[in-house]
Amino acid sequence: MIEDDKNTPNGKGGNGKGTSGDNILTTRQGHPVTDNQNLKTIGNRGPATLENYHFIEKISHFDRERIPERVVHARGAGAHGYFESYGTVGNDPVSKYTRAKLFQEKGKRTPVFVRFSSVTHGGHSPETLRDPRGFAVKFYTEDGNWDLVGNNLKIFFIRDAIKFPDLIHAFKPDPVTNRQDGERIFDFISNTPEAMHMITFLFSPWGIPANYRQMQGSGVNTYKWVNQDGEAVLVKYHWEPLQGIKNLTQAEAEQVQSKNFNHATQDLYEAIERGNFPSWELCVQIMSDDEHPELDFDPLDDTKIWPIDKFPFLPVGKMTLNRNPENYFAEVEQAAFGTGVLVDGLAFSDDKMLQGRTFSYSDTQRYRVGPNYLQLPINSPRKHVATNQRDGQMTYHVDHGAGQNPHVNYEPSSLNGLKEAPKTGKDHEPHYNANLVRQKIERTNDFKQAGERFRSFEDWERDDLIKNLVNTLAPAQKHIQDKMVELFTKCDPEYGRRVSEGLQKAAKEKIDKGPIGSTQTHQAVKQAEATAH
Ligand code: HEM
Repeated sequence: MIEDDKNTPNGKGGNGKGTSGDNILTTRQGHPVTDNQNLKTIGNRGPATLENYHFIEKISHFDRERIPERVVHARGAGAHGYFESYGTVGNDPVSKYTRAKLFQEKGKRTPVFVRFSSVTHGGHSPETLRDPRGFAVKFYTEDGNWDLVGNNLKIFFIRDAIKFPDLIHAFKPDPVTNRQDGERIFDFISNTPEAMHMITFLFSPWGIPANYRQMQGSGVNTYKWVNQDGEAVLVKYHWEPLQGIKNLTQAEAEQVQSKNFNHATQDLYEAIERGNFPSWELCVQIMSDDEHPELDFDPLDDTKIWPIDKFPFLPVGKMTLNRNPENYFAEVEQAAFGTGVLVDGLAFSDDKMLQGRTFSYSDTQRYRVGPNYLQLPINSPRKHVATNQRDGQMTYHVDHGAGQNPHVNYEPSSLNGLKEAPKTGKDHEPHYNANLVRQKIERTNDFKQAGERFRSFEDWERDDLIKNLVNTLAPAQKHIQDKMVELFTKCDPEYGRRVSEGLQKAAKEKIDKGPIGSTQTHQAVKQAEATAH
């Protein structure tokens, strides 16, 4: 039986389970394979012939098994589940702020796919490394897909997208030695003061989540919600794990890593297999859509947290992950998330990072997965798609409209082609009146929240933070250390003093350059420990 397999959600294709003869090995041309053990050779000692069609197909497909891994966030794990809306935001119906359909009714369920990841290193790197974690959610809504591409931490290192490739180059391995190097990282950071808040989080235990289930998520960038009347508010999204939050100190992470460097993938997979389904509450913070001159930071600055006392977390729904992927490559590796993927009622803010990100994701996915990546089951919406986009590598099917004249792949047309959809509400039309410039935002305020963060940590978290910073900074050149101490001091004098004292003690040791959390600099850790007590 030949079945139409396009858009099957699990990507299994048309040869469904249970059809007789299903378990007979064939080539991709459907030819039964009668010998999968022996090459066709002249005599049983070779040489081989070119007529080995089955072998050549098999090996040449194998030769192409890898696609480029993600340039960042290469290591990841994913799961399917659903999002259930509460229908309200605080004491208000959600419709007051957004007309996005997935949020409107209490109890409404939307299927989701989530991919968690670490950022810096390659596809099989240890999951114990000090690194931000990705938290990307694809909502398959009735209005098409919505991707909320977030991280575990609520802020980021930089606030302008043009700096992203430099940031990532500094954190990735040295182009000569191919090793991550704390000196390169702090060379960049010492010239990037807006990173101090993120660095303070990253080098504390918050920089190593214990696993994916006990980890928060955040959209980090500022978005907008738009209601039926075209009125907008600024929003930030946050995922709160209902399993609680758990982080690891450097020493605990090293313990885990010595036994298992896939622990987070394993933990997620096994919890779901056991029926212990992890869940997160989605909360939003809301601000009116203006510049908020009364605040000492810019609401579009992703290096800042919106203080919770002024902008409380308002729960809007709950997500549960209850199904593991059937195939890692098809679903997790080929999944493609992007910040441009919004539905009606959700919009961009002017956040410069968000604007830059929005170009980058689909651009890299056309290269990484291919121009028709949206036709893959994991990426395609769970609703009918009707476009006039045609052809390109790996075209899998034609995105016909129901009843669309197949000769008409353009619009407008009076020959039964696709038509524009009716509007569902008033457009949000922000007004701009400014010069086109290359300038920083005015309220940079790079150190205040970093200092508050340092003071808000518990003692053990602060001790671990100082240890980790000293450990990574100790092998760096003196002028980089001095610049970093100056920046830590601007955040909080005690912060600067403790790092400085740790570095002075460590200077007496001979310490090799190494990555974040490098065990070969353990002497520096010991010294810093002594400083901390
Ligand atoms: C992945 C670019 C900032 C979260 C990626 C990828 C690129 C990219 C090119 C690989 C995508 C793929 O191959 O499918 C950028 C740029 C940024 C930026 C240019 C800044 C201008 C951020 C920020 C966050 C973030 C601030 C956190 C909110 C993620 C996540 C992934 C990712 C979670 C992995 C998605 C997945 O699991 O497939 N980013 N990124 N990125 N980025 Fe960003």
